[in-house]
Amino acid sequence: MSEVVLASDNQGKIQEINSLLRNTPLEVVGQGSLGVEPIEETGTTFIDNALLKARNAARQTGRPAIADDSGLEVDALDGRPGVYSARFAGAQATDTENVEKLLAALDGLAPEKRGARFRCAMVYVTHADDADPLICEGAWAGKIITGPKGDNGFGYDPIFWIEGEKATAAELAPERKNILSHRGQALRMLVAQLAERS
Ligand code: IMP
Repeated sequence: MSEVVLASDNQGKIQEINSLLRNTPLEVVGQGSLGVEPIEETGTTFIDNALLKARNAARQTGRPAIADDSGLEVDALDGRPGVYSARFAGAQATDTENVEKLLAALDGLAPEKRGARFRCAMVYVTHADDADPLICEGAWAGKIITGPKGDNGFGYDPIFWIEGEKATAAELAPERKNILSHRGQALRMLVAQLAERS
């Protein structure tokens, strides 16, 4: 079994990735348990930020690393908040503050102009200076509704409406969200490519 460091300490992400890796010789461990100091996300694209985080984790541990970066692109805001999704309402903003700011920015906008998508970049580097990283991307399209609905998930899930499900992302069971989501798509692609390599 070879251990790969995940540039995150989110237990949900660690478990989800390990369950997809169960038929491979790979396993991920959270970077905190290896003493990795997180790096500031200064990139301007999801791929830039995922690579920054993966290279940082690989550099500090000497191990291969996986990292992801994601966010919400809103059509009416020319793709914002994008890589700034977690900080849309300020550096220490809560999910509720970010959601309120987005709802205010779209106030009065017609339903057909409320298109949006979550995007995720998931990357794997064999070492900090890997010149040929594996890069996988997922996208999940929906609409921003006018008020929150549902208690599951996090971030913008309560205002992200998926027409095919007749539900917001926060009304989906976690297993269903993992099948459909930007992160689930990117992760399954990455795991398939890693399984081919190993
Ligand atoms: P991260 O890169 O996964 O930490 O995501 C950055 C930010 O994007 C989060 O803090 C959320 O605001 C938003 N975001 C990313 N993925 C999701 C999702 O699946 N649901 C809701 N919000 C998300």
